Amino acid sequence: MKKIFTAFILLMFIKAHAQQHNFSDKYVVPSDTLVQQKLAHWQDIKFGLLMHWGTYSEWGIVESWSICPEDEGWTQRRGPYAANYFDYVKAYENLQTTFNPTKFDPDKWAAAAKDAGMKYVVFTTKHHDGFCMFDTKQTDYKITSPKTPFSTNPKANVAKEVFDAFRKDGFMIGAYFSKPDWHCPYYWWPYFPPKDRNVNYDPKKYPERWNDFKNYTYSQIQELMTGYGKMDILWLDGGWVRPKSTIDTSVEWQRGIVYDQDIDMARIAKMARQNQPGLLVVDRTVSGEFENYVTPEQTIPATPMEHPWESCITMGNSWSYVPHDHYKSTNDLVHMLLKIISRGGNFLLNIGPSPEGDWSDTAYSRLKEIGVWMKVHGNGVYNTIPLAPYEDGNIVYLQSKDKKNMYVYVLSDKTNDVILPASITLSNIVVNKKSKIVLLDSPKEKIKFKSEGGSTVISIPSKLQNKVAGNYAVAFKITQ
Ligand code: GLC
Repeated sequence: MKKIFTAFILLMFIKAHAQQHNFSDKYVVPSDTLVQQKLAHWQDIKFGLLMHWGTYSEWGIVESWSICPEDEGWTQRRGPYAANYFDYVKAYENLQTTFNPTKFDPDKWAAAAKDAGMKYVVFTTKHHDGFCMFDTKQTDYKITSPKTPFSTNPKANVAKEVFDAFRKDGFMIGAYFSKPDWHCPYYWWPYFPPKDRNVNYDPKKYPERWNDFKNYTYSQIQELMTGYGKMDILWLDGGWVRPKSTIDTSVEWQRGIVYDQDIDMARIAKMARQNQPGLLVVDRTVSGEFENYVTPEQTIPATPMEHPWESCITMGNSWSYVPHDHYKSTNDLVHMLLKIISRGGNFLLNIGPSPEGDWSDTAYSRLKEIGVWMKVHGNGVYNTIPLAPYEDGNIVYLQSKDKKNMYVYVLSDKTNDVILPASITLSNIVVNKKSKIVLLDSPKEKIKFKSEGGSTVISIPSKLQNKVAGNYAVAFKITQ
């Protein structure tokens, strides 16, 4: 009885925890061995780049949401047309006729991301507003339309250019694709005014129209899976497009979903994997077979999770370009990376390109600084797995996958520099006598240690204490 009670309490705890972070607790292990292999590889590479880019960047507003008639903070309209919804949408859609990112140079992005130690990229091929950053045949609301000035540029099919440039640099390639499409007449039927983020008619009542939407979505994903080279991740956003049976009413935004919005993920995934064997499908928040990893947003789970996951977090405050956005410090970004991987997750860091097609100088300098740190610590980042107690005060624990090395990180205080004390106790870490301990920043210095109960105490030579040991976080590597 007591066991059942404990199990029940644990289950409730896990559920509450999952809901709080808005990710699922019903993970399904993929049965396809190619998917398993790709997933395992993806878990080893830890650090990726996300980009939100579209015509909304021209106004420097939040991506897509201002055309969604929900009364929420992030859906606020800005600008001269804000007083009338339909005028606003017209002006928003008209941004297509001025989008001309002539500074677009994906090789430059790939080089900067690679130098920072990033190893995969996820790029918005289409956000909720429906504007396609790829050369779809399903609509003219796209970057390669003659209406869009950039269409005459040799790099007009920007998604393809981004994927090719990053693939050349060895990145895994991911397509962000929004299932909901607020431009498509099969999703927001112009016959009715839209009311919120959801489909604006009852798919059960108008099955042909919904079927057209299913085909529209299928065809666009098919284009991405056939004309854009080798793809590794299909990152599907807009979790309100989901079968009604999967709605979790304990999650607030899911309570607003009135209609069944089943787009037949089985058919889409089958086609996608026929073209891209082993493809990871990430049907965000729709737990089950088509959510190969889960994606907490702007948050880091407090403890490790059993299944593969990734935190997507913005480098600035916004997903899309906003002039003078406030960027997180390199110190914070390195700490985030370490906390995420110490719980077994991946870090997908977002940058929003400007309307001219470049990143801010701050974004480049953050990546450069991360890169300098990664060159010293890379072996203690890639191919690692969690090591209890994971995080303890300003210490983060990790170990290599083969368990031959442990990495004990000491994080800096509020400043960039790590100041080491005379000794550090590694709680519950047992190190055998023959182990070798070095500080990755000064690998030649010998570090002494002794066992104390079930813990290990390492003594830091005064040289290392007095001189600055390193930036953001330093790592002791313990070779067993
Ligand atoms: C949030 C935003 C959405 C963005 C997504 C990325 O859900 O509302 O616009 O694409 O985060 O994870």
